Amino acid sequence: MWLRKLLYYPLSIALTIASPAPVVRGQPGGAPWLAIDSNFPDPSFLQAPDGRWYAFGTNGNNRRVQVAVSLDFHTWNLTDIEALPTLAPWETAIDHWAPDVIQRDDGRYVMYYSGEARSRLRHHCVGVAISASTSPLGPYIPNDEPLSCRLNDGGSIDPAGFRDPADGSRYVLFKLDGNSVGNGGDCNNGNPPILDTPIMLQPVEEDGFTLRGDAVEILHRVTEDGDGPLVEAPSLVFVGGMYYLFYSTHCYTDVLYDVRFATADSLGGPFEKGNESLVRTGEFNLTSPGGGTVWAGDEGPRILFHGFCGEEVRCTYAAELEIGDGDVRFV
Ligand SMILES: *[C@@H]1O[C@H](CO)[C@@H](O)[C@H](O)[C@H]1NC(C)=O
Ligand SMILES: *[C@@H]1O[C@H](CO)[C@@H](O)[C@H](O)[C@H]1NC(C)=O
Ligand SMILES: *[C@@H]1O[C@H](CO)[C@@H](O)[C@H](O)[C@H]1NC(C)=O
Repeated sequence: MWLRKLLYYPLSIALTIASPAPVVRGQPGGAPWLAIDSNFPDPSFLQAPDGRWYAFGTNGNNRRVQVAVSLDFHTWNLTDIEALPTLAPWETAIDHWAPDVIQRDDGRYVMYYSGEARSRLRHHCVGVAISASTSPLGPYIPNDEPLSCRLNDGGSIDPAGFRDPADGSRYVLFKLDGNSVGNGGDCNNGNPPILDTPIMLQPVEEDGFTLRGDAVEILHRVTEDGDGPLVEAPSLVFVGGMYYLFYSTHCYTDVLYDVRFATADSLGGPFEKGNESLVRTGEFNLTSPGGGTVWAGDEGPRILFHGFCGEEVRCTYAAELEIGDGDVRFV
C-alpha cells in the first residue's frame, strides 16, 4: 500500500512544500495528543455499551485490520488482534484500508473496509464484515459481496457508517477513488483532465449493508476550494440540528493533507465547505494530519486522526472537540 501510493507522489515533494501555519478555525484552547504511538493510519473508533473505546486502523503491524482499546479515550493500547482473519472472494490479501465499525441493534458489529479487487488490481471496493459475536474485537466475517465497487469510476474506498438520529436510518459514506484512474501527477490526479473524487452517501437497511436505493454524491473535489487532487476520508456526525461532514484534502503524503469539514441542514445537502483546515501540518507539531473519524456521543464530541510520526509511519492522534453553530474547534 505504501509503495503503491508513494509512487503517485514521492515523499520528497512533500518535504519541499513549506507552508505557514495559519490559525485554526475558532480559538483552540486544547491540543491533540499522541494516542497510538505506532503505525495506525486512518483510525475510526466507537464506544461500546460497556463504556470502553475501540479503534480500528488500516493494515499495519502485520495485521489486516488493527484494533486498539482504551478505557478513557486518553490512553490507548494497541492489541495484537487480527480483526479480519478471513477474506471475501472478491478481494486480494493486501490493502485493507480505513476500516470503520458500527453496532447494530442486534448487538453485532458491522465493519466496512476497503480491499483490493481481484478483478482489477490496484483498485478497491468497500467490503462488509460482521462480528461473529457481540464483541467489537471481532473476529469479523466478510460478506461474499462487496457493498460498493464502481471500478470504472476508480473504485470505492474510505467507508464510514452513519446513523441519522433524525429517523434512525443507516447510511454508508465512501469516496469514489477517481484519482486511481487519473492522469498522473499529484496523487495521480494532478494532470488535466482532473477527475472528481466525490464523497458518496449510500442508504442501507437496518442490517448495515443491504442497499436501499442508489448512492448520491454529497461533496466534490473543487480546485478553487483548495482541495488539491482529491477529497477523501469522510466522517459524518449530527450535532445541534446540523450535519457536519469531516473530510481530508490533498494527497496523504503531502504536507497539505488536512482535516476539514462541511455543514448542511439536511442529510442530502448541499454541504457547504469551510474551505479551511480544522488541523493541518505545522499545528501542534503535526505532519500531514488527516484520515479522521469524529464521534458525537454522550461524553462529548471527539476525533481520532493520523499524522506522520516517522518516515512512512502514521501514528494516531486524539482530541476533544466542541461542535456547534456550524463551527468546530479543539477543546
Ligand atoms: C493497557 O495496558 C495496560 C498495561 O498493560 C493495562 O494496565 C491496561 O488495563 C490496558 N488497558 C486496556 C483498556 O486494556
Ligand atoms: C469555498 O470556496 C468556494 C470557491 O471559491 C466558494 O464558492 C465558497 O463560498 C467558499 N466557501 C466558504 C465558506 O468560504
Ligand atoms: C514533533 O514531532 C516529531 C516527529 O513526529 C518528533 O520527533 C518530536 O519529538 C516532536 N516534538 C515535540 C516537541 O513533541
